Amino acid sequence: MDKLIITGGMPLHGEIRISGAKNAALPILAAALLSEAPVIIGNIPHLHDITTTMELLGRMGVQLLVDEKMNIEIDSSTISSYDAPYELVKTMRASILVLGPLLARYGEAHVSLPGGCAIGSRPVDIHLNGLTKMGADISVENGYIHAKVNRLKGCRLVLEQVTVTGTENLLMAATLADGITTIENAAREPEVTDLAHFLNKMGAKITGIGSSVLVVEGVDKLGVDSIHYDILPDRIETGTYLVAGAITGGKVKLKNTRPHILDAVLDKLTEAGADISTGEDWIQLDMHGNKPKAVSLRTAPYPAFPTDMQAQFIALNCVAEGVGIITETIFENRFMHVQELQRMGADIRLESNTAICTGIDRLTAAPVMATDLRASASLVLAGLIAQGNTLVDRIYHIDRGYDHIEEKLTQLGATIRRVPK
Ligand code: EPU
Repeated sequence: MDKLIITGGMPLHGEIRISGAKNAALPILAAALLSEAPVIIGNIPHLHDITTTMELLGRMGVQLLVDEKMNIEIDSSTISSYDAPYELVKTMRASILVLGPLLARYGEAHVSLPGGCAIGSRPVDIHLNGLTKMGADISVENGYIHAKVNRLKGCRLVLEQVTVTGTENLLMAATLADGITTIENAAREPEVTDLAHFLNKMGAKITGIGSSVLVVEGVDKLGVDSIHYDILPDRIETGTYLVAGAITGGKVKLKNTRPHILDAVLDKLTEAGADISTGEDWIQLDMHGNKPKAVSLRTAPYPAFPTDMQAQFIALNCVAEGVGIITETIFENRFMHVQELQRMGADIRLESNTAICTGIDRLTAAPVMATDLRASASLVLAGLIAQGNTLVDRIYHIDRGYDHIEEKLTQLGATIRRVPK
């Protein structure tokens, strides 16, 4: 297993390009299953989760062609199996996203039930209840979801809880259903919006995009003509590098991103003392050499503060001036990074779903272990300001979601290297 070694202490300075959004690319690759003609997807990030999705589609018999710019052409006309096996679903829960498209287009799907994961129990009952309401016959046997239907029927769905992949699965399913489906209490995350735009480009009839009520008029076919679609930039990657700039008292400019989908994060960075400037597709953060101030926040569905940035802001609070109180409301067990940060000297107290952190002058390097993707990112951030060499183990989590992280951080002046094993 590869490790990262980070020598802390350098303020970051420089410019980097942000990659395409992992959490938009995954549903959009799954949505390509709905298309009659081949589709070409651009701005695909170079990530392990993308490779897993390609393997998943490939095993179903779908043909995939990748060019040197990471544009992927997907031709699902050769599909021969409707299965998502356990061995792939267990490494990437987002595999559940093939359920809606398979059922809508081919009337059949067999998808391994994702188990719990490092950040919480993460059930998929809302996905299954919605599809059942649309007429699917669903059973769970031997750890697999078996779903069948002649044609899904449009209906009114009121989601019990805001769920990102749940909304995406039901949205994809509804595009080919008979009649109109309304999805109320839908997730409004920019990645859901990106998927909806992609579906409409293939000929779907979705309105209410970006709101919590999505209305889908089912059509008979999608993607009759081949289309090209570029994935939106990754707001969580953007936010992570902004925190890297802030935590080190540096100045960073991130290009090929979208400031308006990061409002809640930019507000908190401003509160932390960052001087933020933005253009249409770039964000610059300048700390003018100062230490950050501690910030308090609560995670919640978009447009509120994202749970996927919680761990990074805890790392920021570790070395900030004052006390920051961070409450996690989306996942019940998303504080695994706290114990590792404490091993680096952080003063953090956990009270149920709240982390109370009193900033200290400096963290000290330690060997630490990544437990999930965003937790790993917070450990890398901590390593950037710790005294000594921090060794982050199990970084396959990072490779799932951060495109060339050590190259990008090196470009910003960090001392970081990958040690292969
Ligand atoms: N939930 C249910 N039942 C369901 C679905 C969800 O109870 O059927 C609960 C979950 O247990 C959780 C809450 O609803 O408490 C929200 O979960 P959601 O379904 O929105 O999460 P997700 O779709 O599984 C996506 C992202 C996550 C991100 C969350 C929240 C993808 C592929 N994953 O997960 O991204 O944290 O939304 O924004 O889009 C990451 O990138 O590191 C990551 C974990």
